[in-house]
Amino acid sequence: MFVNLHVLYSLTWLTIMIQGKQCDKASKVKQSDKGSKVKRKEDASPRKSSSEEKVVQDKKAELKSLGAKAVEEKDYAGASKFYSEAIKVDPKDATLYSNRSLCHLRIGEAHDALVDADACIRLRPDWPKGYCRKGAALTALKDHKEACDAYMAAVKLDPSNEELHEAFWEAVVAMKAELGAGQSGSSSDSD
Ligand SMILES: *[C@@H]1O[C@H](CO)[C@@H](O)[C@H](O)[C@H]1NC(C)=O
Repeated sequence: MFVNLHVLYSLTWLTIMIQGKQCDKASKVKQSDKGSKVKRKEDASPRKSSSEEKVVQDKKAELKSLGAKAVEEKDYAGASKFYSEAIKVDPKDATLYSNRSLCHLRIGEAHDALVDADACIRLRPDWPKGYCRKGAALTALKDHKEACDAYMAAVKLDPSNEELHEAFWEAVVAMKAELGAGQSGSSSDSD
Protein backbone atom coordinates (compact mmCIF):
# COMPACT_ATOMS: atom_id res chain seq x y z
CA MET A 1 0.00 0.00 0.00
CA PHE A 2 2.73 2.36 1.10
CA VAL A 3 4.91 1.63 -1.93
CA ASN A 4 1.98 1.73 -4.32
CA LEU A 5 1.03 5.19 -3.16
CA HIS A 6 4.55 6.37 -3.76
CA VAL A 7 4.53 5.01 -7.29
CA LEU A 8 1.09 6.46 -7.90
CA TYR A 9 2.18 9.91 -6.85
CA SER A 10 5.35 9.71 -8.90
CA LEU A 11 3.31 8.88 -11.96
CA THR A 12 0.82 11.63 -11.27
CA TRP A 13 3.71 13.98 -10.83
CA LEU A 14 5.07 13.00 -14.21
CA THR A 15 1.69 13.64 -15.77
CA ILE A 16 1.58 17.06 -14.20
CA MET A 17 5.05 17.87 -15.48
CA ILE A 18 4.05 16.92 -19.02
CA GLN A 19 0.81 18.86 -18.83
CA GLY A 20 2.71 21.75 -17.34
CA LYS A 21 4.74 22.11 -20.50
CA GLN A 22 1.55 22.45 -22.46
CA CYS A 23 -0.26 25.03 -20.40
CA ASP A 24 2.32 27.50 -19.19
CA LYS A 25 -0.01 30.33 -20.01
CA ALA A 26 -2.37 29.17 -17.31
CA SER A 27 0.16 30.25 -14.68
CA LYS A 28 -1.02 33.80 -14.97
CA VAL A 29 -4.38 32.84 -13.50
CA LYS A 30 -2.88 33.66 -10.11
CA GLN A 31 -2.99 37.32 -11.02
CA SER A 32 -6.72 37.26 -11.66
CA ASP A 33 -7.34 38.01 -7.97
CA LYS A 34 -6.87 41.66 -8.76
CA GLY A 35 -9.02 41.67 -11.87
CA SER A 36 -11.99 39.94 -10.31
CA LYS A 37 -13.84 43.12 -9.41
CA VAL A 38 -14.07 44.06 -13.05
CA LYS A 39 -14.89 40.54 -14.15
CA ARG A 40 -17.82 40.27 -11.71
CA LYS A 41 -19.68 42.87 -13.71
CA GLU A 42 -21.12 40.27 -16.06
CA ASP A 43 -22.49 38.33 -13.09
CA ALA A 44 -24.36 41.35 -11.82
CA SER A 45 -28.03 40.71 -11.49
CA PRO A 46 -29.84 42.37 -14.40
CA ARG A 47 -32.67 43.71 -12.26
CA LYS A 48 -30.31 45.98 -10.37
CA SER A 49 -30.00 49.44 -11.82
CA SER A 50 -26.49 50.60 -12.50
CA SER A 51 -26.60 53.14 -9.68
CA GLU A 52 -27.67 50.45 -7.20
CA GLU A 53 -24.92 48.28 -8.55
CA LYS A 54 -22.42 51.08 -8.01
CA VAL A 55 -23.49 51.49 -4.37
CA VAL A 56 -22.98 47.75 -3.86
CA GLN A 57 -19.55 47.82 -5.51
CA ASP A 58 -18.48 50.85 -3.48
CA LYS A 59 -19.54 49.23 -0.24
CA LYS A 60 -17.73 46.05 -1.12
CA ALA A 61 -14.59 47.97 -2.09
CA GLU A 62 -14.70 49.78 1.25
CA LEU A 63 -15.07 46.53 3.21
CA LYS A 64 -12.34 44.89 1.14
CA SER A 65 -9.89 47.65 1.91
CA LEU A 66 -10.78 47.51 5.60
CA GLY A 67 -10.20 43.76 5.47
CA ALA A 68 -6.88 44.15 3.70
CA LYS A 69 -5.78 46.77 6.23
CA ALA A 70 -6.69 44.49 9.13
CA VAL A 71 -4.74 41.63 7.52
CA GLU A 72 -1.77 43.94 7.16
CA GLU A 73 -2.01 44.68 10.89
CA LYS A 74 -2.30 40.95 11.52
CA ASP A 75 -5.75 41.45 12.99
CA TYR A 76 -7.15 38.33 11.36
CA ALA A 77 -10.28 38.14 13.48
CA GLY A 78 -11.11 41.72 12.55
CA ALA A 79 -10.33 41.12 8.90
CA SER A 80 -12.54 38.06 8.89
CA LYS A 81 -15.46 40.20 10.10
CA PHE A 82 -14.92 42.72 7.30
CA TYR A 83 -14.81 39.93 4.74
CA SER A 84 -18.02 38.49 6.20
CA GLU A 85 -19.70 41.87 5.73
CA ALA A 86 -18.35 42.07 2.20
CA ILE A 87 -19.71 38.59 1.49
CA LYS A 88 -23.16 39.78 2.57
CA VAL A 89 -22.87 42.52 -0.03
CA ASP A 90 -21.57 40.21 -2.77
CA PRO A 91 -21.96 36.52 -1.92
CA LYS A 92 -20.63 35.48 -5.32
CA ASP A 93 -17.12 36.95 -5.05
CA ALA A 94 -14.79 33.97 -4.65
CA THR A 95 -11.83 36.12 -3.59
CA LEU A 96 -13.67 37.18 -0.44
CA TYR A 97 -13.99 33.55 0.65
CA SER A 98 -10.38 32.91 -0.25
CA ASN A 99 -9.21 35.79 1.93
CA ARG A 100 -11.51 34.92 4.81
CA SER A 101 -10.27 31.33 4.59
CA LEU A 102 -6.74 32.59 5.15
CA CYS A 103 -7.90 34.67 8.14
CA HIS A 104 -9.64 31.68 9.70
CA LEU A 105 -6.54 29.59 9.24
CA ARG A 106 -4.29 32.18 10.86
CA ILE A 107 -6.41 32.22 14.01
CA GLY A 108 -6.64 28.45 14.23
CA GLU A 109 -10.15 28.04 12.85
CA ALA A 110 -9.13 25.37 10.38
CA HIS A 111 -12.59 23.97 9.90
CA ASP A 112 -14.01 27.37 8.96
CA ALA A 113 -11.01 27.86 6.68
CA LEU A 114 -11.97 24.66 4.91
CA VAL A 115 -15.62 25.69 4.54
CA ASP A 116 -14.54 28.98 2.94
CA ALA A 117 -12.04 27.26 0.66
CA ASP A 118 -14.81 24.97 -0.56
CA ALA A 119 -17.10 27.96 -1.14
CA CYS A 120 -14.32 29.62 -3.11
CA ILE A 121 -13.84 26.51 -5.26
CA ARG A 122 -17.57 26.21 -5.89
CA LEU A 123 -17.70 29.78 -7.17
CA ARG A 124 -14.50 29.56 -9.19
CA PRO A 125 -13.53 25.96 -9.91
CA ASP A 126 -10.83 27.03 -12.34
CA TRP A 127 -8.97 29.25 -9.86
CA PRO A 128 -5.94 27.60 -8.23
CA LYS A 129 -6.12 29.75 -5.09
CA GLY A 130 -9.25 28.01 -3.79
CA TYR A 131 -7.54 24.60 -3.91
CA CYS A 132 -4.44 26.05 -2.33
CA ARG A 133 -6.49 27.39 0.60
CA LYS A 134 -8.22 24.04 0.86
CA GLY A 135 -4.87 22.25 0.99
CA ALA A 136 -3.67 24.54 3.77
CA ALA A 137 -6.86 24.05 5.78
CA LEU A 138 -6.70 20.27 5.39
CA THR A 139 -3.04 20.26 6.38
CA ALA A 140 -3.98 22.12 9.57
CA LEU A 141 -6.69 19.53 10.14
CA LYS A 142 -4.05 16.82 9.58
CA ASP A 143 -5.98 15.33 6.69
CA HIS A 144 -2.88 14.97 4.57
CA LYS A 145 -4.35 12.67 1.96
CA GLU A 146 -7.09 15.17 1.10
CA ALA A 147 -4.55 17.99 1.26
CA CYS A 148 -2.51 16.19 -1.41
CA ASP A 149 -5.55 16.02 -3.66
CA ALA A 150 -6.32 19.70 -3.16
CA TYR A 151 -2.76 20.82 -3.88
CA MET A 152 -2.62 18.54 -6.87
CA ALA A 153 -5.72 20.19 -8.28
CA ALA A 154 -4.03 23.56 -7.77
CA VAL A 155 -0.83 22.40 -9.47
CA LYS A 156 -2.78 21.13 -12.46
CA LEU A 157 -4.36 24.56 -12.88
CA ASP A 158 -1.12 26.46 -12.39
CA PRO A 159 1.74 24.09 -13.25
CA SER A 160 4.53 26.67 -13.24
CA ASN A 161 3.82 27.90 -9.72
CA GLU A 162 6.75 26.64 -7.62
CA GLU A 163 5.01 27.30 -4.31
CA LEU A 164 2.20 24.97 -5.26
CA HIS A 165 4.63 22.20 -6.16
CA GLU A 166 6.34 22.73 -2.85
CA ALA A 167 3.08 22.61 -0.90
CA PHE A 168 2.02 19.50 -2.78
CA TRP A 169 5.22 17.68 -1.92
CA GLU A 170 5.06 18.71 1.71
CA ALA A 171 1.58 17.22 1.86
CA VAL A 172 2.81 14.01 0.21
CA VAL A 173 5.64 13.75 2.74
CA ALA A 174 3.24 14.37 5.63
CA MET A 175 0.86 11.77 4.25
CA LYS A 176 3.63 9.22 3.94
CA ALA A 177 4.85 9.96 7.45
CA GLU A 178 1.32 9.43 8.70
CA LEU A 179 1.00 6.12 6.87
CA GLY A 180 4.42 5.11 8.13
CA ALA A 181 3.43 5.92 11.71
CA GLY A 182 0.31 3.82 11.27
CA GLN A 183 2.38 0.72 10.54
CA SER A 184 5.28 1.32 12.93
CA GLY A 185 7.59 -1.62 13.36
CA SER A 186 7.03 -2.94 9.90
CA SER A 187 9.65 -1.57 7.56
CA SER A 188 8.86 -4.19 4.96
CA ASP A 189 8.50 -2.89 1.47
CA SER A 190 5.92 -5.46 0.46
CA ASP A 191 2.46 -3.96 0.51
C1 LIG B 1 -7.33 39.45 -0.75
O1 LIG B 1 -6.09 39.64 -0.13
C2 LIG B 1 -5.06 40.12 -0.97
C3 LIG B 1 -3.81 40.21 -0.15
O2 LIG B 1 -4.04 40.91 1.04
C4 LIG B 1 -5.47 41.45 -1.57
O3 LIG B 1 -4.49 41.88 -2.46
C5 LIG B 1 -6.78 41.29 -2.29
O4 LIG B 1 -7.22 42.54 -2.76
C6 LIG B 1 -7.83 40.72 -1.36
N1 LIG B 1 -9.05 40.48 -2.10
C7 LIG B 1 -10.22 40.83 -1.58
C8 LIG B 1 -11.41 40.49 -2.41
O5 LIG B 1 -10.33 41.38 -0.51
